[in-house]
Amino acid sequence: MSRKEIVENAFAERFGYQSSGIFHGPGRVNLIGDHTDYNDGFVLPAAINFGTDIAASLREDRRVRVLALDCNGESSEFSLDEIAFDQEKMWVNYVGGSLLALMKVYPDIRGVDMVISGNVPLGAGLSSSASLEIAILKTVAALNNLPLDGVKAALMGQDAENNFVGCNCGIMDQLISAMGKDGHAMLLDCRSLTFEDVPVPPDLEIVIINSNVKRGLVDSEYNTRRQQCETVAKTLEKPALRDLTIEDLEANKRQLDDVSYRRARHVITENDRARDTLDALIKNDTTRLSTLMKASHDSLRDDFEVTTKELDGLVSMIDEIIGESGGVRMTGGGFGGCVVALAPKEKVQQVFNVVSTEYPKQFGLTPDIYVCRTAPGAFRE
Ligand code: GLA
Repeated sequence: MSRKEIVENAFAERFGYQSSGIFHGPGRVNLIGDHTDYNDGFVLPAAINFGTDIAASLREDRRVRVLALDCNGESSEFSLDEIAFDQEKMWVNYVGGSLLALMKVYPDIRGVDMVISGNVPLGAGLSSSASLEIAILKTVAALNNLPLDGVKAALMGQDAENNFVGCNCGIMDQLISAMGKDGHAMLLDCRSLTFEDVPVPPDLEIVIINSNVKRGLVDSEYNTRRQQCETVAKTLEKPALRDLTIEDLEANKRQLDDVSYRRARHVITENDRARDTLDALIKNDTTRLSTLMKASHDSLRDDFEVTTKELDGLVSMIDEIIGESGGVRMTGGGFGGCVVALAPKEKVQQVFNVVSTEYPKQFGLTPDIYVCRTAPGAFRE
């Protein structure tokens, strides 16, 4: 049974009538450009064929009844007029937060019955939360016939995350989940929110390896990095690190302590790498791609200090196999989570074999390996 059928059947069973529609929000993998989005910079993610499905029907009143199949079959029921933070069921807050953000613009929506199920691995840096937020916004917008576009939906998803859930994330995850294009990645300008689709070369596979390292410090460390970046921009009197060149940074090095200097150097060089990667993908220049992805990983390890020994180990294992025929780096927020490889089709099996034998041997952990396809965003026409 497909996941669509699963949510559809569960809906009929739970609510005693048929759902009127099934909606989807994809997860994402970021090919390059990490910790740049909240610095008004550039990112290059792709929406993937892992995501969240929702079977739903509009109600006559303002109530919301929601069942989450993957969270031990937990459910919740509330009124659109009384959305409160749920201390026990964290997943409910992504639903409530997205609805609150939507109602800032469309206060008169009707309530909804929903069954949710997803297959984005949780806490792996593949944006399970953005995929849920965007799936919710798509569901409620479609059923209420709202003229909501994908960029606005992404901002609402980010609003939910920043102001209700309490995570200070940037715009990348929600925007790619809403506006990704099948077969493509996207170079997104996180200041103007304009983007350029770029085809993923057909001979390269997107391979994602979950290190399965528990991401303990992720929220506090993430917020610290964000503050460090904002402090540098403030010290150098710029709106954001996006507005600094490497020459500006070098010229003002004396005003910064070593850590601040390295944090800023990562962001500035990573912005350049994201833009250069667009060009490398267009030209299918895997040698350049390989260099850029390697430099990105090194910079996230040495300057931004968000990798772990497991992520570093996975990257060097895979790099030895694919060399200049593709690229590999950590992806997402770091401190655990996944690495992403763009690997030629004929090397995927070898990557699989080496990672599944060597990684447990070296690090005592079992990896999950996914060969992904790109997918369309929820709001992409
Ligand atoms: C997390 C955040 C994103 C982005 C990445 C790092 O995934 O949700 O907004 O900052 O980390 O690139």
